[in-house]
Amino acid sequence: MCGIVGYVGDEQAAPILLDGLRRLEYRGYDSAGIVVSLEGKLWLTKSRGYVNNLAGIIDGGAKMPGTVGLGHTRWATHGRPTDENAHPHISDGGKIAVVHNGIIENYAKLREFLISKGYHFQSETDTEVAVNLIAYFYAENGDLKLAVAQAARRMEGSYALGILCEDFPDTLIATKKESPLVLGVGGTARYLASDVAAILSYTRDVYNLRDDEVAVITRGGIEFFSGELDPIEKTPQHIDWDVSAAEKGGYEHFMIKEIMEQPEAVRRALKSRVRDGEIYLDGLDIPADFIKSVSKVYIVACGTADFAGVVMKYNLERLARVAAEVMFASEFRYNLPPIDETTLVICISQSGTTADTIAAMREAKKHGARVLSVVNVVGSVIAEESDWSLLTLAGPEICVASTKAYSTQLAVGYLLTLFIAKARGAIDDGKYRAALDALESLPGAIDETLKLREKAQYLASRYFSANDIYFIGRGLDYALSLEGDQKLKEISYIHSEAYAAGELKHGPIALIDSAVNTPVVAIATNARLIDKMASSAVEVKTRGARVLAVVTSATQDAMRDIADDMIVVPDYAEAFLPSLAIIPLQMFAYYIALQRGCEIDKPRNLAKSVTVE
Ligand code: G6P
Repeated sequence: MCGIVGYVGDEQAAPILLDGLRRLEYRGYDSAGIVVSLEGKLWLTKSRGYVNNLAGIIDGGAKMPGTVGLGHTRWATHGRPTDENAHPHISDGGKIAVVHNGIIENYAKLREFLISKGYHFQSETDTEVAVNLIAYFYAENGDLKLAVAQAARRMEGSYALGILCEDFPDTLIATKKESPLVLGVGGTARYLASDVAAILSYTRDVYNLRDDEVAVITRGGIEFFSGELDPIEKTPQHIDWDVSAAEKGGYEHFMIKEIMEQPEAVRRALKSRVRDGEIYLDGLDIPADFIKSVSKVYIVACGTADFAGVVMKYNLERLARVAAEVMFASEFRYNLPPIDETTLVICISQSGTTADTIAAMREAKKHGARVLSVVNVVGSVIAEESDWSLLTLAGPEICVASTKAYSTQLAVGYLLTLFIAKARGAIDDGKYRAALDALESLPGAIDETLKLREKAQYLASRYFSANDIYFIGRGLDYALSLEGDQKLKEISYIHSEAYAAGELKHGPIALIDSAVNTPVVAIATNARLIDKMASSAVEVKTRGARVLAVVTSATQDAMRDIADDMIVVPDYAEAFLPSLAIIPLQMFAYYIALQRGCEIDKPRNLAKSVTVE
């Protein structure tokens, strides 16, 4: 996500802020900015593009004197990546500057309120709501710290805020909820950062701010307050990580960090969109008549995004009763199926810049289809050119092999499926409500499933030397086989394939070699299909395969006598179970690659974003 850095001390702030921003570049961003206070005024520079661009504008910081300031790298969520939308944001009237990480979910309501109080807005961001809300309370009571706490109480969602006000030119204020924020101490200098990587070259002694706490940061001192503004004591922590470990939050690779971030990412994707027993799709004006008239859905994507599409297809057909087909974008663009105005094309893309998916989207539109995109990057070509676009809100994904982006694609797919099912009258109220309840608990269930990490690591130690591994499943479990197989081959370079379990006897079963006990990962989480899946597992087992079963607490009994190894995920509503069952598959691939000594975050021959055909 976005990055924050702040400095209060004796040295010129801007070069230190630029350095901190460079150290946050690994997080991914699309614009950057700095604010400093000088002679009782705020000085602001921000621009679209990289920190080097910003550094060029301010001559490496030389053009911005002042010893107190804030910097920010923005990854767009509300509003496109433009100069106006870049941080810091300044309150109407110019008194207060704010940098912000996170998403303020009730920003539309707060914006309306502030407009009614005479506030004007320059950008499309939720952050400008935060800074004006602080300005509003500050104008009312003249106490900045209190104004920050009052504004924080009104904001729903997640935020880490750094605040600088003209009236207190030597002070930074910070508060947070859900998004991380650390404060560093080095001599008389004080630092503020969204993660320690930004400030590690200056200090290793940091305080972690907790939710709702407020910090008042001055040269040589930091005062901490509870959400009710009672003074509190905090003890700093000494960080031993090197810069590379710090960027990864202490994990060895971005991949495992991103695997562990999935509950939070899925929570973001779902939270603001499920409220009071309803689904709100970011105000998209998809006409109900159109949804009812849709005769065919094509889901078009590449790689992992395509496999998230396979999960969506099964759910759309079963829950929304609409025919859905998944096509690789590279196939779709040159082999266009019949398309008309009753066709809905759903393009899924993490980057929003994949060449084949862009071309497929344009072809579909040219032939009269309406295109809805599911994209992680705001302002990307696919997000901009599609008729409607839904953000996955996964945050930047650094590891080439996709994990949290996939999980959020699944989550947005669930929302879309239920939205379409409701609009078409395909789901009754009781089932709809139960599904929404299950969605609300999903991030917690993913969190629970992450506890399988040690078990996955142990299983990896039993299978890492295999030359070939096969994945089988039925229905949604088949969709997962595709992604489990993709993860494994991408990062471990083991030859692997995924098959619909029922297809085994029509060819693939010839590959099972009793001489080497060919490993087969049997994904058997679907209680409806467990008997069928068990007999597929027996078929390979009797021919000498070694079976690793991925089961739930509800399906494990059926597989216990067949499987050589089992990993048990929590049982869950069938439609959303892929979000849990994918976790051990991701971890299995990760730990196998680790044991084989592979370059995990940047696998050979692969690129994160494929912008050429
Ligand atoms: C590349 C990446 C994959 C990704 C695919 C589609 O191959 O390595 O991880 O799934 O592109 O990318 P997109 O950005 O469109 O989701």
